[in-house]
Amino acid sequence: MTKIDTRLNVAPVPPDEIFALNGAYAVDPHPQKVSLGVGVYRTDDGKPWPLPVVEKAEQQLVKDNDLFRHEYTAIEGDVPFLGIARDLMFGFEGKPSEEDAKARIASVQTVAGTGANHLGALFLAHHMKPTNVWLSNPSWANHQTIWELAGVPRKTYPYYHAATRSFDFDGMMDTLESDAQEGDVVLLHACAHNPTGLDPNKEQWVAIADLCERKKLFPFFDSAYQGFASGSVVEDAWAVRYFFNNKPDMEMCVAQSFSKNFGLYGQRVGAFHYCTNRASTSIRDIVVNNLCHLIRGEFSMGPRVGCSIVKKVLTSDELTAEWHQDLQVMSSRIKSMRQALYNELVRLQTPGTWEHIIQQNGMFSYTGLTPKQVYALKDKYHIYLLKSGRASISGLSQKNFAYVAQAIDDVVRNEI
Ligand code: LMR
Repeated sequence: MTKIDTRLNVAPVPPDEIFALNGAYAVDPHPQKVSLGVGVYRTDDGKPWPLPVVEKAEQQLVKDNDLFRHEYTAIEGDVPFLGIARDLMFGFEGKPSEEDAKARIASVQTVAGTGANHLGALFLAHHMKPTNVWLSNPSWANHQTIWELAGVPRKTYPYYHAATRSFDFDGMMDTLESDAQEGDVVLLHACAHNPTGLDPNKEQWVAIADLCERKKLFPFFDSAYQGFASGSVVEDAWAVRYFFNNKPDMEMCVAQSFSKNFGLYGQRVGAFHYCTNRASTSIRDIVVNNLCHLIRGEFSMGPRVGCSIVKKVLTSDELTAEWHQDLQVMSSRIKSMRQALYNELVRLQTPGTWEHIIQQNGMFSYTGLTPKQVYALKDKYHIYLLKSGRASISGLSQKNFAYVAQAIDDVVRNEI
């Protein structure tokens, strides 16, 4: 290994694949380059899309000219925002037990979804000391990093059945049943599983909840795509709400991100919610107080601007309705691009089956392309996707889907 002239004991770590790929794409001068790497929404012109409703909220915020807009918030974050974020996630409005439900949830603001996952991992590592965390195989690569940094041993449960390109429900259940121990954390993707785009159906979610309850496992939901996946914030929160409402004796937590559903990627808007098993504001407040201790020692409090935007939208019925329309625009464009790519591969009679592209859900398709094929797509066609074969479908457009299908056809047909 290269000797490094420093007092530090450091060796190189592999660069983050998603952001390294994004950097390589940015400097590629090829006119037909296509980015299917990082999970960000793009328009049919391949451009970022500040949501129209977000732009409206920004204009209103400028008009408001709030003198306090650059001031510190409380350590737990912007308190009204936290109530709004919690209500969006758990959706208990109008239920007779609304106040009790709210008393079960300790919420703090985080530095987006990554920050929520990290804070949650650190909090559980300190205060629950799980023997293991169980991650799906595969999962978002950053889950490994986050739990490694929190010092919790990682194990994986089967999730993807390569031969059928489907969700391996039996594999997941059998492994957790036989190998997970009481107190282990099970990381679950609330919807639009990253990277496979395969989610359990409702019946399977019910069985997963039963298993967690029976084996006393701790469900940790990562919710990064609420509303973005199906277009409906209710549908995409189904699993979280089912666990919360139907298993009140089971504690759980949720890492909530607003990066994708509000298109606020660089603003780092998120929240962490810990759900206790009884409606006790005093227990809830102790949980918040301990989370604040970690927050204060690390970043003092979450950033303010993005939260103000979300708050502006979700406190206005009119803007909320517009946001729902924007979610429809994003989710339906992605669905139509899945269909376009699939149709073109069928038309080209590309060897293999491609139905999975239209069956998967959310931002990504787990294409089934091999690392060699992925490399050839980049080398020969300047098409960028992760070496696992994960493609961010939002990088496809009316202009480039035929080019991408043709390139896939080439690398598959020639058995690259
Ligand atoms: C992705 O998976 O591409 C996105 O969630 C961006 C990220 O932070 O990795």
